[in-house]
Amino acid sequence: MKIIVEAKSLSKEFQGTTVLRNINLTVEKGEFIAVMGQSGCGKSTLLYNLSGMDRPTSGKIFFDGQELQELPEPQMSSIRLKKMGFVFQKANLLRSLSVRDNIIFPAYQAGIFKREEINENARRWMEQTGILSSAKQDVRKISGGQQQRASICRALMNRPQILFADEPTGALNSSATGEIMDIFNRINAEGTAILMVTHDGKVAARADRIIYLEDGAIGEELILGKFSKDRREEREKRAAAFMR
Ligand SMILES: Nc1ncnc2c1ncn2[C@@H]1O[C@H](COP(=O)(O)OP(=O)(O)O)[C@@H](O)[C@H]1O
Ligand SMILES: [Mg+2]
Repeated sequence: MKIIVEAKSLSKEFQGTTVLRNINLTVEKGEFIAVMGQSGCGKSTLLYNLSGMDRPTSGKIFFDGQELQELPEPQMSSIRLKKMGFVFQKANLLRSLSVRDNIIFPAYQAGIFKREEINENARRWMEQTGILSSAKQDVRKISGGQQQRASICRALMNRPQILFADEPTGALNSSATGEIMDIFNRINAEGTAILMVTHDGKVAARADRIIYLEDGAIGEELILGKFSKDRREEREKRAAAFMR
């Protein structure tokens, strides 16, 4: 299988404090990886570095074979916009725009799809995530869970090759979480790689493998294989045992 993102000896320090230690990680095209670990162990920092939103102190990051640090900023921004999707811990929505306008904004910036396709894609994602009735609302007026779903819609608009998701279901109840994870499994089956941080073992059980980050280094790993609905209980049991 081809590799979409690769970290080689990635280390990250903030003011002399080491947060990521010598990380070697490959994400294959169409792979779904869950990253777990205690608060403060470096999960978000890992996502920021792998996606080129932050730069490592040492080591290299490759996206589709290209070393990210060697790319000039405009090219890196273009890759982030057109080939990567992001769901942050906080939704980071533009406060002056409606739910729908927040979702379609990066699609217009990218210019990959025509106006009608953008409108139809936005409608479809809002419907699938259950926020279609809030499309015209001011983002300040909707709940945290709805904001999180809007940021998921926004991340999927340009059909990214890889989705970086930092606790994407953190603000959702269990039924909404299940619906979002069904979407993640579906887009993953259609070829989008996913790197997702989560504290929820049931959510992690949807991934192909679970990586445990410990004090900035990759510790144990659990291989689950491709998700299938009929093996859900067994996967959840294995993920729960792995977390202990
Ligand atoms: N921009 C930053 N400046 C200084 N320290 C940071 C910065 N970002 C993260 N850290 C520190 O790095 C460590 C890991 O943070 P983070 O990656 O957010 O952990 P996690 O997502 O696993 O909870 C924490 O100790 C945090 O305080
Ligand atoms: Mg975090």
